[in-house]
Amino acid sequence: MEQALPMMQRISYTDLYERWEKGNWSATQLDFSVDRDHWRNRFSELQRRAALWNYALFLHGEDAVADNLSPYIDAAPTEEMKYFLATQQVDEARHAVFFARFMREVVEDGSTDVAQSLERTRPQLTWGFRNVFALLGRTADELRRDRSLPMLAKGIALYHIVIEGTLAQPGQHFIESYLERDGLLPGFREGIRNVALDEQRHIGFGVKALSDLVQMDLECRDAVAELLREVMPYSVAVLVPPGWDRGYTECFGFTLEDIYAEGVQSLETKLRSAGLPLEEMPGAVPIDLSVPPQERAGRAIKLLQGNLIGEKLGPPTRDPEVVALMFDSVRLSIDPTAATEPTTIQWDFPDAEPWFLRVDNGSTRVERGRAERPDVTLRVRFEDWVDIAAGRTDPRLAIATGRLRPRGRLKALWRFTKLFPR
Ligand SMILES: [Fe+2]
Ligand SMILES: [Fe+2]
Repeated sequence: MEQALPMMQRISYTDLYERWEKGNWSATQLDFSVDRDHWRNRFSELQRRAALWNYALFLHGEDAVADNLSPYIDAAPTEEMKYFLATQQVDEARHAVFFARFMREVVEDGSTDVAQSLERTRPQLTWGFRNVFALLGRTADELRRDRSLPMLAKGIALYHIVIEGTLAQPGQHFIESYLERDGLLPGFREGIRNVALDEQRHIGFGVKALSDLVQMDLECRDAVAELLREVMPYSVAVLVPPGWDRGYTECFGFTLEDIYAEGVQSLETKLRSAGLPLEEMPGAVPIDLSVPPQERAGRAIKLLQGNLIGEKLGPPTRDPEVVALMFDSVRLSIDPTAATEPTTIQWDFPDAEPWFLRVDNGSTRVERGRAERPDVTLRVRFEDWVDIAAGRTDPRLAIATGRLRPRGRLKALWRFTKLFPR
């Protein structure tokens, strides 16, 4: 933070605008003739399938960000911010045009307009992707009604930090580096390089804007934490390959862990540069900052494959090691500073081993077994709890339908909901 903040203060919205003027490029002039040949003759069948899946996520992502940026322009507090965001909207349209051209002219998907390319690639979208972008749509709608600074901060955290900084940028690096390494798709490669340069500017804006917004209104910090808490169960699942076939990234020489590690690292640095280090937003993102990025990535992937987070593709695993990772995530999604006195929560599963969590004096621990005098006991089937923790089931609905039965002292129950500020 000591290093990042002064840098953010040096970058101005005017600089960012100027960089946009200098960085202009044309998506319609790129030459895809060699790409067409490479796509047919140098890509293997698996590589074509994998690239199509990955580029389809980008086409839909670019289309969605182009469509959802206008309320940000309206809500931005200064003219300089508005002008930059207007340039960004042009960029996003250009990016969508670029990916749509690729689908039409290289993949030859038989479409005649962007709507058709979107329609034809829609089946490729993952559960995580659909949920992240549904949230972007809802957030943009909310920002249309509520132009307050905390709402704008929330929107920027989702758009610029999570979608562009955590999901898109590592994906672009991955694509750029294998195309570069293997000398493939020269036209597309040039385009993706330009897209990545634009995104760098957009993310730079997001980081700067967030750091400014937090200084203008302290409530922005809580708004960002709330957004992160909401989006994480979905964003972690965006890159789950079809049928869990790891070949989708490994055919290009990268493991899923490599890409996830870059994503999680990117999220951490960008938030830190924005003056919102994760350690100052306890509970916002359930990652253990004391663990190296590659290991964090490995844990997330184990949880996804065990159906404990992400899309439910089967019953949740009962593997004790992975279940322990899930409870560790529960521990990490707690804000221990919200507990004014020691609190113990007991999970009482009729069909699995019990677990408990204890928040005491600013720290949290989880353990298998029964606590002595829990303040709150949650009676719930293991699978139902997993669905709630993974963001697949609304906890209020689970309580209303009797699937989640919390018992305990009223005060402790109230405190308990404060711990999970959802
Ligand atoms: Fe873009
Ligand atoms: Fe962008």
